[in-house]
This record gives sequence, C-alpha cells and structure tokens, in this order.
Amino acid sequence: MRKIIIDTDPGQDDALALMTAFGAKKEIHVLGITCVAGNVSLDLTSINALKICELSGAFEVPVFKGSSAPLKRKLVTAEHVHGKTGLDGTELSVEKKDFEVISAVDFMIECTEKYRDEKITICALGPLTNVAKVLTKNPRMTESIEEIVLMGGGFFEGGNITPAAEFNIYVDPEAAKIVLQSGVKITMLPLDVTHKTLVQRDFLEKLRKSGKKSAIEAAKLLDFFERYDVEKYGSQGGPLHDPNVIVFLLNPEIYHGKLVNVEIEVNSELTRGMTVVDWWKVTNREPNVYYINEVKEKEFFEIVLNKVLSLET
Ligand code: RIB
Ligand code: CA
Repeated sequence: MRKIIIDTDPGQDDALALMTAFGAKKEIHVLGITCVAGNVSLDLTSINALKICELSGAFEVPVFKGSSAPLKRKLVTAEHVHGKTGLDGTELSVEKKDFEVISAVDFMIECTEKYRDEKITICALGPLTNVAKVLTKNPRMTESIEEIVLMGGGFFEGGNITPAAEFNIYVDPEAAKIVLQSGVKITMLPLDVTHKTLVQRDFLEKLRKSGKKSAIEAAKLLDFFERYDVEKYGSQGGPLHDPNVIVFLLNPEIYHGKLVNVEIEVNSELTRGMTVVDWWKVTNREPNVYYINEVKEKEFFEIVLNKVLSLET
C-alpha cells in the first residue's frame, strides 16, 4: 500500500487523476490533497478539490490550501482550457467537506515526519510551488520521500503554453528547478507521454453508460476539457495528462523512459520553463530524472476506467 500526497490544481484532468487514485483503495492510501494555484486561482482549485472528493465519495481525505502564486513570478492561469471555474463541463457542489486548518506545506512536512520510516510519494499534478517550498523549508524531508512523480515538461513534443514550455513548469520554473535539483528520486511524465493518451470515444461511452454519477460527471468534465486540444491539434481526442501520474504508480510496467539529466530554463523569457532534456547524453550533467516518453495507451485507459468505475458513488 503506497502512501501518497497529491498536489494538484484541478483542472478536469486533475479530477480524473484524483478519481483514479480514490478508486485504487487496495493499492494507494491518499494521505491528503494539497492544492496549488495553476489552471485557475487557488480559491477555485481548492474548492474544485473539495468538489471532486465529494463526487468520488472520498469524504475522509483531508484537503489543504497551498500556494496562491508562484515563488517569484505573477500567476499565469489556463481558463482558456479549463473554463472560468477550472472545472467547467458540469455543475458540482460542496455539501459537507471543508479545508483543513493547517497549510499544505505544513501538512506535507508533518506527513513526512510521521511516515519517515515508511516513506511517502508525492504526486504533483500542477505547478511545483508547494513542493519546492517544502523542500526549501525542510531540506531533511528528502530522506522521507520515496519519490516525486510529476506531470510536467516536454521535449520531443515541445511546449503547450509556449512553443518551449509545458504549463506546470512554465507557471513556476524556479520551483521546478528547486525540485529537480533536490536529489529526491523523480519520475517525470511529460507531454511526450501524455500526448499518447488521447481521450477515446469508447472510453467516454463506457463512463456515460455506467449508470454511476461519478463516472457520468467525469465524462462531462472530459467533454469540456478535450474540446480545446482537439481543436488545437486536430486530433480525435484530447491528451489526458494528469491520470498518467497515478497510473504510473499502479502499473509502471506499461511505461518506458530513460534516466537522464533535465534542467529548467529560468533566465530567458523566450524559453522560460523549458525542460532541457539531455536525452542523448551529450553533456556530462548528472542524470536526475526518470523521463518517460512511452506508454501502452490501451492499458492506460483500461486502468483509469476500471478505477473510476470502482468508485461507490
Ligand atoms: O500541461 C498540462 C498540465 O497543466 C496538466 O497538469 C493540466 O492540469 C495543467 O495543470
Ligand atoms: Ca494539473
């Protein structure tokens, strides 16, 4: 049973990642959800996290508010992709759940101290501001983190918010730099792999026909979410980014990548947030990331479907 903290900026694809994790009760213990500004403001990403917990029946999972802005830069959001609420596509409400009192950063530090022996995994689905703050405030934390598995970056696929950068890294490149230089074991799921998990029609149909509220609402969220990328890439479906982080934890064998050096551009405005991946080892820079660029797409969707449909709601 892997103990994880999910750091997230919901976001429709974040929602599917959370639902996949909540549906994997036998394999994953979600210690808590820490929210960060990214797709939309922190006020909205944090409320969205409460909504997804309630939709999934995960009332026992604590939700914590984290950073409302990047370490050094002005927040850039993505309403053009996720809609004004960050969870457009359906109307979800919050009836019972509320935020925990302590901050996301304090919760992450408390957790790593409490589970020092068992070690925890941090699953980062948004900008890395919270994670960087924790590593800076408590450097010894690196000893109690099993690994950080994050969705972010891109190399062969280029960027999605600029030609050079993927959104999560672009929003807070300084935070990404701190995380990648921390010495913690890091697995990166970049656009190079998430662009190979394009939402499929039969996947959506199975969610819709399940007769389960959570699955039906998930399909509505994806209908809205994928319209932007289908239009942009002219593809049959939009890339389902964040669930790759959870599916990697569950079935790493369907993924393939390479241990390489990845550096983050923080100086140039033109290439701000670019993940400079030394894929062909043309430098003597130390490898610091297991960088994934291949996935078995059919198996990915079977796993997400199986976990989402196993939710009781
Ligand atoms: O670039 C895709 C990433 O940015 C995903 O995590 C999506 O939710 C947004 O946060
Ligand atoms: Ca996200």
